[in-house]
Amino acid sequence: MSFDTKKSFLKILITGGAGFIGSALIRQIIDETNFSIVNVDKLTYAGSLQSIATVSNNPRYIFKQIDICNHVELKKIFKDQKPDIIMHLAAESHVDRSIDKPSDFIKSNIIGTYTLLEQGRDYWNTLKGDKKKSFRFIHISTDEVYGDLPHPDHKDGSLPLFTEISPYKPSSPYSASKASSDHLVRAWNRTYDFPTIVTNCSNNYGPYHYPEKLIPMTILNALEAKPIPVYAKGNQIRDWLYVYDHVKALLLVATKGKIGETYNIGGNNEKKNIEVVKGICAILEEMAPLKDSSLKITKYENLIKYVKDRPGHDMRYAIDASKIKKELGWKPLETFETGIKKTVRWYLDNPSWYKKL
Ligand SMILES: NC(=O)c1ccc[n+]([C@@H]2O[C@H](COP(=O)([O-])OP(=O)(O)OC[C@H]3O[C@@H](n4cnc5c(N)ncnc54)[C@H](O)[C@@H]3O)[C@@H](O)[C@H]2O)c1
Repeated sequence: MSFDTKKSFLKILITGGAGFIGSALIRQIIDETNFSIVNVDKLTYAGSLQSIATVSNNPRYIFKQIDICNHVELKKIFKDQKPDIIMHLAAESHVDRSIDKPSDFIKSNIIGTYTLLEQGRDYWNTLKGDKKKSFRFIHISTDEVYGDLPHPDHKDGSLPLFTEISPYKPSSPYSASKASSDHLVRAWNRTYDFPTIVTNCSNNYGPYHYPEKLIPMTILNALEAKPIPVYAKGNQIRDWLYVYDHVKALLLVATKGKIGETYNIGGNNEKKNIEVVKGICAILEEMAPLKDSSLKITKYENLIKYVKDRPGHDMRYAIDASKIKKELGWKPLETFETGIKKTVRWYLDNPSWYKKL
């Protein structure tokens, strides 16, 4: 079953819609489709209603402040709202926080996903006919569940990529909790025929990204002339994807993806962290040249400060996205070079967003 984004009037229940990727997904759906949205978010430190302010008065959008671990509230939402599709993004998402305090990750990412699956399944069991046949639960996950890949500094010749059948080998409490949630989702499909699809995506970047993550932190620390911390020598490789390319892929999966499948999503933009940080510093030299002579630096790059590596730090992630390209016709529109310039520009133009956080 597939849906036409212009002709269908689906109601999508999105969890985590006040976060970075969820808010981009909501803005995209309201702008580009006729679908309506129920945004379910607990509003942790990472969620901000400011990120969806541009759509909050739209008649096709409603917000409910709910913890996905609360089965009573979830049951009521399903009964009252009767969604056609669930897109599950709510999660604790920051690796460093998961190392300091894993309990929130176990609760939201594992218990929360379990609770949503059970309430979703109860609701799905009440559906009949086409509404039942077309219902689907899209679980949004990460490439970090696969652990890390050989690094070019340590291996010659061709380098492997993560595919949909790569073994799970998570390294951090965050990735282990996401891996657990992926397993639960697949088990609910296999055991109960609950119609699920899993996506595993590489690192996203773009507007409205919470300032604790590498790219926004680099931009904002540089603008405030604060040290820019880089783990070890900054040689860790990530495969960067512009957030709007990710949400386009998610929309394709939700409307045209095949039940029971997994789709890997990635930007084919492998970069070392240090290249990313130095690249942002170079863009800032053009877009926001340093003027204050009282600062003890002449270039943004002088702010880079190498710090002790994160325990269990994965050295390389890289995605083989050929399945979603071939089967659903998706391809990213931004290169890293175009996307990162748009991102830096957005932070320069939107201080009111990050100053209120
Ligand atoms: N950011 C990335 O690079 C990336 C890459 C691949 C996959 N993902 C996955 O995509 C999803 C969204 O990531 P993000 O970067 O937007 O995260 P984020 O941290 O920016 O946002 C998470 C949102 O979930 C909400 N939330 C957290 N716990 C909740 C709970 N118990 N109940 C209800 N809401 C809760 C928060 O309030 C927040 O609005 C996550 O599942 C993440 O694992 C992220």
